[in-house]
Amino acid sequence: MKIISHRGASAYAPENTLKAFALAVEMGSHEFEFDVHQTRDGILVVHHDFDLKHTAGKDVKIAGLTYAELKKYNVAAHFKRDSAFQCVPRLEEVMDIIQPPSRWLNFEVKNDGNVYPGIEGKVLAFLRSKPGLFEKTMVSSFDHGTLKRFRELSPELKLAYLGHGLNTMLLLPALKRAKAVGAVNFHMALRIAFKLNVKKIKKAGFRVCIYTVNNKEDALRMKEIGVDGIFTNHPDIMGKWTLRG
Ligand code: G3P
Repeated sequence: MKIISHRGASAYAPENTLKAFALAVEMGSHEFEFDVHQTRDGILVVHHDFDLKHTAGKDVKIAGLTYAELKKYNVAAHFKRDSAFQCVPRLEEVMDIIQPPSRWLNFEVKNDGNVYPGIEGKVLAFLRSKPGLFEKTMVSSFDHGTLKRFRELSPELKLAYLGHGLNTMLLLPALKRAKAVGAVNFHMALRIAFKLNVKKIKKAGFRVCIYTVNNKEDALRMKEIGVDGIFTNHPDIMGKWTLRG
């Protein structure tokens, strides 16, 4: 089972910052998940939300700022234990830290309603610009149009399906949508990670990864029911429980 650092070692450092990724590497992570957005001047950056309300306490949108403007905000402000200044990193900077030790990378592209037109082509060009990167990358998105555009641009790219507000009733239609776009992975929330659902997903031919798993009991249950990977904010302790494999 893959132990995937979720937004870096985000239990211990402000999520999606260079500090969180460096710490995840220090903790021995080889699998990483992070969220990709685009600034007004076309720079690919890593941050979870479309705006900085949660992280910096500022009601500004990434899409509306140039990178020079964006990097002035402290996105560690929300992280009580260590709020020393951290800016939204460029994708390039994150990759410098995590690509060398990585075996598997999950670019979650946030593009609801195509708020970043053309981001798919830009991400693909980025993946192809670094030796070995494309091969170990899995691109996911909650936005189905985004997944479709990635597929149109690249038949080889590995895609993962993500569904907003998914429940057991909606699983079969979601599997159909995932299949239609040629996804190989299905990423799903822990709250519906039951044995039967995981079985259905695997029977449909997908690998299944579950978010966000932060305690031992849940992690062991995921392993038991045949999950292929867990996203965790605690890559150190999950790794220690010899769940990898
Ligand atoms: O990519 C897996 C998981 O992180 C998806 O949920 O809300 O963290 O983007 P979210």
